[in-house]
Amino acid sequence: MLHSNARGSHPAYPVRTFIDDESVSWTTDTLYKPVNFTHPNVYDNIGKWADPEWKNMQVKERFNVGKRITYCHQGARKTLRSANLLVRGKPRNPIGRTGMKGRGLLGKHGPNHAADPIVTRYNPTTGKLEMVAIRRKDTGQLAIPGGMTEGESVPSTLIKEFKEEALRYENNERLKVDILEQVEALFKKGGELVFRGYVDDPRNTDDAWMETQCYHIHIQNAALAKSLPLLGGDDASDAMWINLDDPSLKLYASHKDWVDKVVGKMAHRKRLRSSARSFK
Ligand code: BGC
Repeated sequence: MLHSNARGSHPAYPVRTFIDDESVSWTTDTLYKPVNFTHPNVYDNIGKWADPEWKNMQVKERFNVGKRITYCHQGARKTLRSANLLVRGKPRNPIGRTGMKGRGLLGKHGPNHAADPIVTRYNPTTGKLEMVAIRRKDTGQLAIPGGMTEGESVPSTLIKEFKEEALRYENNERLKVDILEQVEALFKKGGELVFRGYVDDPRNTDDAWMETQCYHIHIQNAALAKSLPLLGGDDASDAMWINLDDPSLKLYASHKDWVDKVVGKMAHRKRLRSSARSFK
């Protein structure tokens, strides 16, 4: 995989040093002078969700960074050290150059973990597969309603982010308690793992990158899906059902890749069901 968003632009970032496809790999010899950028918001949150600057970290602290978990090697759970992602003890982007050093908007040296729920239904009128999407406030793009794990487990991040970003649950008069309980029960049953690993995110740098665990949850109960009062909250300006059978659909970061997997899986299941029916 060659990252491209991670070499592209972000509204809160300075222009990166240009990296062509051939120069992404760390093993390619090239004169490389990345732009150095860490957003002021990261400095303001050191000791909260952000690490101290690398140069200010004690030997022991640096060593502990090497123990952090990464899923960059085909989704296998490894430490940065065992995954060989440390260079002189410091984490380095597993895919290659991004044209930027520093942490940009990301708080952690190395992997910054997120969780993403793909919640789908079949539209009762069109029969098409749809997903709950949000519009991100930062880039204005459509996205899965995911978020940073911030030290919480993946299952609790999945439901928390869905409630915050797609249901604005603390401030949504249309959200009935029984609906919320049904959604929570659905998430509790657990979804199907779609992907875990490196995300080609526009915030990534040579020193910090996004990783996620993406789960699929299908709402079979059409009445429940219909009664979800979708409303954008927190990092989302809007929330809505979107049709996944749309060739021009564009989503944030690598979200389209995971959605395509879900579309493929659901189409396969549909075919199996209809061939089972024709055998009867
Ligand atoms: C988003 C997730 C996304 C991750 C990596 C997080 O900020 O909330 O939806 O997958 O970044 O791009």
